[in-house]
Amino acid sequence: MRSPEKRIIPSAEEIRLMPRSRRFDGLPSLRRDNPFLSWGDVPHSVAPFVPTPVNVVRRMLKLAEVGPDDVVYDLGCGDGRILFMAVEEFEVRRAVGYDINPSMAEPLQEKIENSGLEERIEVVNANFFEVDLSPASVVTMYLTTSGNSKLRPKLEEELGDGARVVSHDFPVHNWTTDKSSEPPHYTVGSHKIYLYRIPEAFENEIRVKRSKEEEGRWKRIRGLFLSENS
Ligand SMILES: C[S@@+](CC[C@H](N)C(=O)[O-])C[C@H]1O[C@@H](n2cnc3c(N)ncnc32)[C@H](O)[C@@H]1O
Repeated sequence: MRSPEKRIIPSAEEIRLMPRSRRFDGLPSLRRDNPFLSWGDVPHSVAPFVPTPVNVVRRMLKLAEVGPDDVVYDLGCGDGRILFMAVEEFEVRRAVGYDINPSMAEPLQEKIENSGLEERIEVVNANFFEVDLSPASVVTMYLTTSGNSKLRPKLEEELGDGARVVSHDFPVHNWTTDKSSEPPHYTVGSHKIYLYRIPEAFENEIRVKRSKEEEGRWKRIRGLFLSENS
């Protein structure tokens, strides 16, 4: 009997130290075109591709009361399922998806062309931190808590009043959801959905941060600190 070919699998540390171009050599499961595992190698990616189940997508769009006047942006659109459902079932005006991973964006572009919906669905292979979010009336996301925190200032700055942000499984820290009772999220099986309305989600936060009383207190503390250290 032929002995099985010896395969040397490098450790995670060895992979980390390899030049980028060699990291995937001989490791078919880590090939660049495997969207499930290549995200760590895509600079600025804040989440791997994990699709939102369709029943959760439907609930997200329903909760955000998505309709024909809306422009939906899916930040990190993966296989485009949110874009297609927004257009086909909820009849939104336009759905735009950004994905930084070309192995997600390229096949999706082909799918859009084959569907004949190019006028209403668009995919852009780009880093969503570098695009203008102001045209969106609804933003959907399935990222990570740290990814959401990095996006928060951009969402606060660019989204217009009346926009909704729906996040699957991960909250946006320091924002308040639209739910008045606990828990702050909606549930579909084991999945959580966080719904935020702009600017209500953060206007209290900003008011507290900028209140006169708060500022006065900080000025006094700062004054004490400076006089002690001068
Ligand atoms: C968990 S998947 C969500 C896919 C889809 N939105 C859904 O819910 O089914 C996250 C996606 O975000 C993309 N992504 C991560 N960081 C990104 C960034 N900075 N800019 C654009 N896309 C990003 C990943 O490539 C991945 O496809």
